[in-house]
Amino acid sequence: MSAILIAGANRGIGREFVHQFTDAGWTVLATARDANGQQILAEAGIEALQLDITDDASIAALAEALRDVALDAVIANAGISGDVTLPTEAVTWPEMHRVIDTNALGAILLMAALKPNLLAGERRLAIGMSSLMSSIASNNWGTQYCYRASKTALNAMWRSLADEWREDGITCALLRPGFVKTDMTDHQGMEVAVSVAGMRAVVERLTIADTGRCIGFDGMDVPW
Ligand SMILES: NC(=O)c1ccc[n+]([C@@H]2O[C@H](COP(=O)([O-])OP(=O)(O)OC[C@H]3O[C@@H](n4cnc5c(N)ncnc54)[C@H](OP(=O)(O)O)[C@@H]3O)[C@@H](O)[C@H]2O)c1
Repeated sequence: MSAILIAGANRGIGREFVHQFTDAGWTVLATARDANGQQILAEAGIEALQLDITDDASIAALAEALRDVALDAVIANAGISGDVTLPTEAVTWPEMHRVIDTNALGAILLMAALKPNLLAGERRLAIGMSSLMSSIASNNWGTQYCYRASKTALNAMWRSLADEWREDGITCALLRPGFVKTDMTDHQGMEVAVSVAGMRAVVERLTIADTGRCIGFDGMDVPW
């Protein structure tokens, strides 16, 4: 039985990943940022580990709690949009840091901390959660300075990770959920179950030949 860790699993896409991978027979480990998130998952019968992806000590504690646990896959799903309506003159250092720390830096540091777990697993899948907003080629309508920067940075780092970890046989792939009905989008877009079903199918098929790709819920590559 394959084991997967979903970071940021108490609501939205992460929560649906937990359900769908569990239904598909995977052993699922979930994380939540705080006691409230852990409680929500506990009420659904899911024991969640604590992880604040912006906190070094929290990442280290998670890695310690998972010492010697083999993971076939890790999905760094935790993310924030920040205020996507800010015009350029309203972008601040703290807001940019907050969004990049969560969406890009946190994701890569989590993977680094859990590399031993992935090496102990069979599938060896390091998965980041990207977005069409990462794409410079597709950016023909502007806006979302912090969110776009964070997801483009994530993609750039994931490509480097793919190169660095290829010799370890770790597939480093990015997923694009599409526009999905969650708290992040004020519940506009497609049903979360549809997006996650598509992404789960992508994950099931991933091999080392896919390392460095950014793949949508529809199986299509996302333009860089
Ligand atoms: N929804 C979309 O249309 C869409 C499109 C493209 C990409 N994405 C990406 O998909 C991922 C999930 O998005 P979503 O729509 O499911 O968002 P969401 O409903 O807002 O859920 C975000 C999740 O991330 C967690 N999180 C936020 N900051 C965290 C931190 N510092 N440490 C640990 N966990 C943290 C949240 O935990 P708390 O409850 O504790 O805050 C929550 O579990 C994100 O990476 C997002 O950028 C979403």
